Amino acid sequence: MKRSLFFIALMGFALSISARDQKMDAFVNKLMSKMTLSEKIGQLNLQPGGDVTTGGAMDTQVGGMVARGELGAILNTTGKDKIRALQQIAVEKSRLGIPLLVGLDVIHGYKTIFPIPLAQSCSWNLEAMEQAARIAAEEASVDGISWTYSPMVDIALDARWGRIAEGSGEDPYLGSLIAQALVRGYQGDLSSPRNIMACLKHYALYGAVEAGRDYNTVDMSHLRMFNQYFPPYKAAVEAGVGSVMSSFNLVDGQHATANRWLIDDVLRKTWGFQGFLVTDYGSIAEMTSHGFGDLKHNSVLALKAGTDMDMCAQGYLKTLEESVREGKVSRKEIDQACRRVLEAKYKLGLFDDPYRHCPLSDEETAGHTFTAEHRQAARQLTAETFVLLKNEGNLLPLKKEGKIALIGPNGDTTDGLLGTWCVTRPDSKAYPSLREAMQQALAGRGEVLYSQGCNIAPYGRMRQAGASWYIPEVDGEKARQEALAAARQADVIVCAMGEGADYSGESHSRVTLEMPATQMSLLHELAALGKPIVLLNFAGRPTVMNWEREHIPAIMNVWFGGTEMGPAICDVLFGDKVPCGRLTTTMPQSVGQLPLYYNHLNTGRPAGDDDPTFRNYSSNYFEVSNGPAFPFGFGLSYTTFQYGQMQVEANGRQLTVSVPVTNSGAYDSYEVVQCYIRDIACRYSRPVKELKGFRRIFLKKGETQTVSIQLQQESLSWYDQDGKLFFEPGEFDIMIGPNSRDVQTKRISVQ
Ligand code: BGC
Repeated sequence: MKRSLFFIALMGFALSISARDQKMDAFVNKLMSKMTLSEKIGQLNLQPGGDVTTGGAMDTQVGGMVARGELGAILNTTGKDKIRALQQIAVEKSRLGIPLLVGLDVIHGYKTIFPIPLAQSCSWNLEAMEQAARIAAEEASVDGISWTYSPMVDIALDARWGRIAEGSGEDPYLGSLIAQALVRGYQGDLSSPRNIMACLKHYALYGAVEAGRDYNTVDMSHLRMFNQYFPPYKAAVEAGVGSVMSSFNLVDGQHATANRWLIDDVLRKTWGFQGFLVTDYGSIAEMTSHGFGDLKHNSVLALKAGTDMDMCAQGYLKTLEESVREGKVSRKEIDQACRRVLEAKYKLGLFDDPYRHCPLSDEETAGHTFTAEHRQAARQLTAETFVLLKNEGNLLPLKKEGKIALIGPNGDTTDGLLGTWCVTRPDSKAYPSLREAMQQALAGRGEVLYSQGCNIAPYGRMRQAGASWYIPEVDGEKARQEALAAARQADVIVCAMGEGADYSGESHSRVTLEMPATQMSLLHELAALGKPIVLLNFAGRPTVMNWEREHIPAIMNVWFGGTEMGPAICDVLFGDKVPCGRLTTTMPQSVGQLPLYYNHLNTGRPAGDDDPTFRNYSSNYFEVSNGPAFPFGFGLSYTTFQYGQMQVEANGRQLTVSVPVTNSGAYDSYEVVQCYIRDIACRYSRPVKELKGFRRIFLKKGETQTVSIQLQQESLSWYDQDGKLFFEPGEFDIMIGPNSRDVQTKRISVQ
């Protein structure tokens, strides 16, 4: 009975979708029958509407272009009034009144800024990340935005690459779940005006740029693509993402923007992507530098490969008509791309109401933006992203009393808390710095002695380029004296040190992962005072912290947490909340180990991860062991968790892995129970560990829970180089534990 009701409901749903599709088809067909070729090409053109620039500047005289039907979408214009004015031109002045799609990089919040995506992933809290995306969509959608260039799901294994900050770390399984959560959060079912269309990026493999240098070459086997890099893109497509952005890099020697195999065969035919594909900023023009040809030629290649919209190169706008006349592209190919763009506008409801994202009154907007509720959600998630790396002698949490010396360049900044993508940042006085938040948390019961202590970094290329502009330049010696004086008077020293918020992100690659020298020498001096000392490590990427690991008793990675970062740090620092973040990116011992990641293949001459001895003719280094400083999945708590004996039950090819976990410490908190597998013998070499399941559980102190994780046949399968999923019977190691290193293992045979 239940089952038949389910099928009736399913049929009803399918029918209503196909009725909607038919309506959409009829609408788009009718509209397209009235469009000229140049109007169709206009729909494929995306340019900045002014205001913010994330790529090269350009003067577009946007209004005129919109009126002439030469623009289908704009990006980088902010503010509902400006957007409404442009929309009005599109609707009232252009011949067919086709509304504009309005895009922006809403990556980790709009006005309420959430932690950078890498940090968010460390929460392993999918519901909270989905909620963050929903809030971002709500805030952006009342300010004119209908389309966000998120989620960025590029797997990144090299901490030198600045854009590691924008993704979810190194794991394809976790990355896939996060990708789906974000698509759900932004889009919902797109029926509400408070939903916006997501854009999956950067398709594909952008995170694998050589040497961690942005925009650099990528070259990899298909086996690796399908198994390690493609899963999050595929997962987002399965979640119904409305659009996809191609990447700047080559895939198999062809530009991702003009790669028919990548776009048509894999994305559309194999995964069933139904939406439209946009290039990244200026990609069609950049193809000339890659050595493919001129703008006209590249535009033909891109369109023929299945790229629908041209971001900022004006290649389609300026050359496609001529290419049609010359027979290099067909009208049918242009129609196909135009149809996909119009369908996106239809799905967003823009033909019903082009102004649905531009409410008229400011009160209406304010009711949705930077609200107490949104900020509370951000504060909660931010606290969950912090990863406690060391806590010797249970130094943390601190008591809310006494004198606390807060020292370091990140201690009293607000702009410096936000992280890489916040083009719509709120006024910097609208939210507190860490110093202000700490004063408030202490509420007169203790005193904060603040000193910047040093310049954030020595004056070099980074500073000259304007990085960390919001941290004042100070007289180094004077600042040092002040900091030491404050520290001498204090009961405890809290260092707010590390990177500047803009040391990571697009085009911000680095070759050093240690703390900048100015801060490091101050940290040495502060540690030498022999007082309790806590390091809050601000970072947009993994940090090398060898000296700190040895000499600083308490270290917590706080990343860049957004507008609520100050209060969130205090929540955890003073024990109102317990740290529960777990690393989603491996922390190396040395930049020379990169790329370093837990789910690597084995070599024929493996060396133990923590082997202190160098072994000749083994796969290892002279200077350091192979293992990381802190492994994937790692994170401490104020409490402790004991794992009992694991069990694996097999029901055919379905496995149930269970383990009792006890909160054996003094605080209630979350634990992330992680399950990994290894395929022992296979046609292709498989990684030494692969995350295949996890459970984030809340345990009260003293409580025990038996956690069960189901593994299906698919969890034990792998893709071949043609993208076909295979299961090979045989032996598997099944592992479970609190991180990727400290696991218990059971070998089983699955037939
Ligand atoms: C970035 C994209 C971004 C686009 C639009 C590009 O430079 O690579 O991630 O969405 O600009 O701002």
